[in-house]
Amino acid sequence: MDLFVAIDRTLEQSLRDQLYAGLRGAILDGRLAHGARLPATRALAKSHAISRFTVDDAYSRLIADGYATGRHGSGTYVAYAASERTPASDQPAPESIISADRDWSNWGDRLTALKSQPAPASPTYSFKQGVPALDHVPLAVWRRCQSKVGRSAASGLFGYGPPSGFEPLRRSISGYLARSRMLRCDPEQIVITSGTQEAIDLIARLFVDPGDAVVIEEPSYPAARRSFAAAGAELLLIPVDAEGLRVELLGRRESRATLIYVTPSHQFPTGGLLPLNRRRELIEWARETGTLIVEDDYDSEFRYGQRPIEALAALDPTIPGPRSVIYIGTFSKVLFPALRLGYIVLPPDLIDRVTAAKETAGRHAPTGEQATLAEFIDAGHFERHLARMRRMYAARSTAMLAAIDRWFGNRAQRHPAATTAGLHTLFRFELPYGEMDMVSRAAEAGILIEPASPCYAAPPAFTEALLGYGAMNEEQLVQGVQALARALLS
Ligand SMILES: Cc1ncc(COP(=O)(O)O)c(C=O)c1O
Repeated sequence: MDLFVAIDRTLEQSLRDQLYAGLRGAILDGRLAHGARLPATRALAKSHAISRFTVDDAYSRLIADGYATGRHGSGTYVAYAASERTPASDQPAPESIISADRDWSNWGDRLTALKSQPAPASPTYSFKQGVPALDHVPLAVWRRCQSKVGRSAASGLFGYGPPSGFEPLRRSISGYLARSRMLRCDPEQIVITSGTQEAIDLIARLFVDPGDAVVIEEPSYPAARRSFAAAGAELLLIPVDAEGLRVELLGRRESRATLIYVTPSHQFPTGGLLPLNRRRELIEWARETGTLIVEDDYDSEFRYGQRPIEALAALDPTIPGPRSVIYIGTFSKVLFPALRLGYIVLPPDLIDRVTAAKETAGRHAPTGEQATLAEFIDAGHFERHLARMRRMYAARSTAMLAAIDRWFGNRAQRHPAATTAGLHTLFRFELPYGEMDMVSRAAEAGILIEPASPCYAAPPAFTEALLGYGAMNEEQLVQGVQALARALLS
């Protein structure tokens, strides 16, 4: 029998005790089953480079303690069945872990204290915000791009790639941003990430030390707030109104902030569109105070019946002074979240810093997916897909808004900032009970809605929910809203 017991000669514990403990452990956890013959003492001594005397000694102790039995002349056998109950003191408490009582990183402590909400079980109607129409992922075309890339690039895709991302994809994104977001940048300014979340987290780690101030919108995107809070930032909240961030409230207190995180093209979660004058003021304020602006442009491809708007990062170079905007984009909404591809567009001075962070965090995003996406964009599929999805989401948004009007009347109001854009709308509900009850009443009726309170640093007195309309068709949306009204209003 091949049996290996870890022996460490640097320990103070005797070889006999180590061997005894190893064999006893193997018996207790069933690796040595009841009735199995232990290795011959000579063989075990040889394979572990210890004396036969030591092995004999350990075996004798196992016999004395009842774990083994010796049959004269025919060896030593396991006398213990692992299924028998082990005395409680011999079993490690299942939830305990070595060194749990030691101080681990403050980042980890802060992060675990900020846990996100658990996801409810699969509902009949899911209004989960930010989820695109996953049944409309252009799978056949995607697969064609995948196999074309596989045929042409072959083994070039299998090694380590550049940390900033696959060069052809960075070129494709640079072309797309110039066409659609009026954002001109060199491919070298782009770092490919695993979605927005990694981008925000890298930025938090790179630019925020514990105690540094970070300005965020109130309400804001909870996952971004979590990254900054875990980095140890002191969060300074600036309220939003019907037009997004109230830039005029940025004052002395905020001027010591390292960075400000904003969603100017579709304020999360209210939906406001930051007007041009406020955009200018924000950039000018950043210039004066030396604050970096982090622009999260997560879904502005989807604006219905309105002209696409210029990214804040596109305005940045038109205002005299050093560049101040870090732009973040994602393919989670425009394609699908499981792709886990996003990108950061950086002012040139920050490229090396962010590239080094990306390399350290995970070397680079998967090259096969990056190459497929580059092909998908370059062949024109991406913009065709966007146009199709824009039409579809516009119809879905209209259907949901009409159904809310019909079934809720004045018991549900669209947030004053809400524009017809993106994949969700924020509603304020007039209900005789609070947010928790609202969510659980909906859940009992098989409906998932997301409360807005996690978006607020200070819990609001009103009851709001984000209703996502991307993942349900018009009929499902109408039925879902009707079922929600029944669950909440009856
Ligand atoms: C404000 C905001 N930013 C970014 C994202 C996308 O994150 P990711 O690219 O990590 O999927 C979301 C998703 O809901 C979001 O709401």
